[in-house]
Amino acid sequence: MSAATMDVLVSLAKRRGFIFQSSEIYGGTGSCWDYGPLGVELKNNIKRVWWRDFVHQRDDMVGLDASILMHAMVWKASGHIDHFTDPMVDCRECQHRFRADQIDERDWTHYCPATKGNKFTIKAGEPCKHCGARRTLCPDCGKGELTAPRQFNLMFKTFMGPVEEDAAVTYLRPETAQGIFVNFDNVLQSTRRKLPFGIAQIGKAFRNEITPGNFIFRSREFEQMEIEFFVNPHERLDGRPADEVWHDRWIAECQAWFTRYGLAADNVKLHEHGRDELAHYSKRTVDLLYKFPMGWSELMGIANRTDFDLKQHSKFSGKSLTYFDEERKEHLVPFVIEPSAGVDRALLAFLLDAYQEEEVRGEKRVVLRLHPELAPIKIAVLPLLKKRAEIVATCHDLRRRLTRRWLTLYDDTAAIGRLYRRQDEVGTPYCVTVDVKTVGDADKGEAGDGKVTIRERDTMEQIRVPIADLETVFARLLDAGASWREIAAGYPRAEG
Ligand code: GAP
Repeated sequence: MSAATMDVLVSLAKRRGFIFQSSEIYGGTGSCWDYGPLGVELKNNIKRVWWRDFVHQRDDMVGLDASILMHAMVWKASGHIDHFTDPMVDCRECQHRFRADQIDERDWTHYCPATKGNKFTIKAGEPCKHCGARRTLCPDCGKGELTAPRQFNLMFKTFMGPVEEDAAVTYLRPETAQGIFVNFDNVLQSTRRKLPFGIAQIGKAFRNEITPGNFIFRSREFEQMEIEFFVNPHERLDGRPADEVWHDRWIAECQAWFTRYGLAADNVKLHEHGRDELAHYSKRTVDLLYKFPMGWSELMGIANRTDFDLKQHSKFSGKSLTYFDEERKEHLVPFVIEPSAGVDRALLAFLLDAYQEEEVRGEKRVVLRLHPELAPIKIAVLPLLKKRAEIVATCHDLRRRLTRRWLTLYDDTAAIGRLYRRQDEVGTPYCVTVDVKTVGDADKGEAGDGKVTIRERDTMEQIRVPIADLETVFARLLDAGASWREIAAGYPRAEG
């Protein structure tokens, strides 16, 4: 498990400008979160890398950006109006609302009759040690009876246009997937694609979760990165149905992607849905689980949705959503493999896995070992002496040049040791320090050597590099995948 507890991470995220509670000055909005200056960079980097790897670098994928508000019939056809529900119960005393299927996973409050009514908080699922009672009342207040379970639809309802009437009802999309299905034919006709091919989309989704929580793990407004990969169900690959083979391939691709960008392999595992867990549209679903501080939980799902969605939309819209198989001379409805990941959950997992505390020269160092491609800031340019105008001017000049290609920050608000620690704590992979030797001392007639110190975050090693080499060095490190070891071997070490 990651060294970080959720509390530690929440505190770091707020302190350093990654994530803030939404509308905090008004007391906060239930389970909505705002991404601050560093959070938005990290989130954009995750989305950019995902899009690059799964859309641009493959010749069997295209992208889409569908609207959030869609025709209400979309949600009837997809089954969301009838089935996208959670069973909920209410406390008749304190009015708190719980998911009926998760109520026994919470610690519960008990006024024990065997101890003159003393109040205890008892671990989830366990009986009272004194009287042996099990929870029947509200787990929060310990007093109220609970209502019978009722189905609660998780979609946010709203009205399209100026009149709030039934005919104007629509919903904020609870998944990006349906925007892809309803555009299947548009994409097919406009791109002349052949099966198999996929359509990817990144965008906001909204769910009125009954029990959101665990920071950004389950919120009411979140972002998804989804792929609908369309496959010819009549084709066979290696003697197996093509949809089953592609499902296995996507599971492997997704798992490899998360570990490539930093999640420890031990912290990721697969979970095969049992028959009773499968969604109504799914032939097979496998979840990628991550070892979050609250336990193994879903990071993403990879489902074989068969031809369910295209057939439903065809039935409800009256439009044909088929593909013409030239070889077999037949119209068919493709099967769909759906890798569906949450951006916010991915971001949480990357942060947790990157977080480390260590002792350096008797002091605690907090470091976010984020993959350089994900790190919000790639390079920090720091002056060793901010009183020396030539040093500061050189820093600003370097920052301006480097930031054209890699987000680069200048900071002079503390002594160099503290500046390094601040960058470690937000995951900046490289710091460049300009000092007296770089610029020289005109008063003493000393010329500068035109070299700066590059410090690497993980090893804290420092090398001395000519300013003229900086862009080549960072292009190798940040764009071409060269290792620090390779680069450091070509330059003299600098004093720590
Ligand atoms: N189109 C399929 C679909 O939406 P899902 O398992 O409901 O499947 C996919 O959601 C992913 O979206 C989840 O694995 C998770 O990463 C993310 N996700 C779902 N609900 C979320 C929520 N309330 N808050 C944050 N992320 C969520």
